[in-house]
Amino acid sequence: MAKKHARYAVGIDIGGTGIKGGLVDLKHGKLEGKRQKVKTPQGAPIDAVREAVREVYDLILAQDVAAQHGEAPVGICMPAVVRHGRSESAANIDQEWIGFDARGAFSEVIGTPVSLVNDADAAGYGEVRFGAAADNTGSVLVLTLGTGIGSALVHGGRLVPNTELGHLELDGHPDYERYASSKVREREGLSFEEWGERLTPYFKHLDRLFSPDEFVVSGGVSKQAEDFLHLIEVDVPVIAATLRNNAGIIGAGLLGAEHWD
Ligand code: BGC
Repeated sequence: MAKKHARYAVGIDIGGTGIKGGLVDLKHGKLEGKRQKVKTPQGAPIDAVREAVREVYDLILAQDVAAQHGEAPVGICMPAVVRHGRSESAANIDQEWIGFDARGAFSEVIGTPVSLVNDADAAGYGEVRFGAAADNTGSVLVLTLGTGIGSALVHGGRLVPNTELGHLELDGHPDYERYASSKVREREGLSFEEWGERLTPYFKHLDRLFSPDEFVVSGGVSKQAEDFLHLIEVDVPVIAATLRNNAGIIGAGLLGAEHWD
């Protein structure tokens, strides 16, 4: 099967707590068969993560549905700046990832070339292609509120990778994700109102910088969107992601099928 016209791709999302993956139906932007998941190894060091990715990949391929569809392109996403296959940052993973040929390492362990992108970029791209912002052909800024804050800027359906807007300095906070991520909300026991007070200046600032047509809020907490989205006071629509936990897998698969470099 010519990879260019693949109907399915394998997508794998390396996250802070789990490494998840599945076979992505590229036409409908949804998972075909079961989602597979293993725990992210403590501290996310390279060797253990590489092995865990291989395990997830093998589990995906072991499904009948994958075997039926032959060789599918593979896309992986991880929480780091990824420039042409090299991981260049490590905010919530082991520092040894900085300046590492991560794409080469994953390709080797899996035994086939893979594409590698930032996790928020994958999730954001998934949401714009098939999720909450599927009808938006303008400028969309997707924010993933989780362990950290990830960002994806998509304009006219094209991704501008590695925006890393979670690390903005604002109002005396040198790294805003450390003040306003979902994990910080949980750790500090903030109410949604209190969290909203931290998110509002952040979204306003992003609006001033990028003037998006719409914000999409992604990450596990987007399940509770009705509880807090209205507390983010900004003059641009803020909508909830719809692909939920599968956004990263789907986006990684889509970008894998496009042979994203
Ligand atoms: C990382 C980003 C990542 C985001 C969400 C941040 O700490 O710097 O690369 O996209 O967390 O996982």
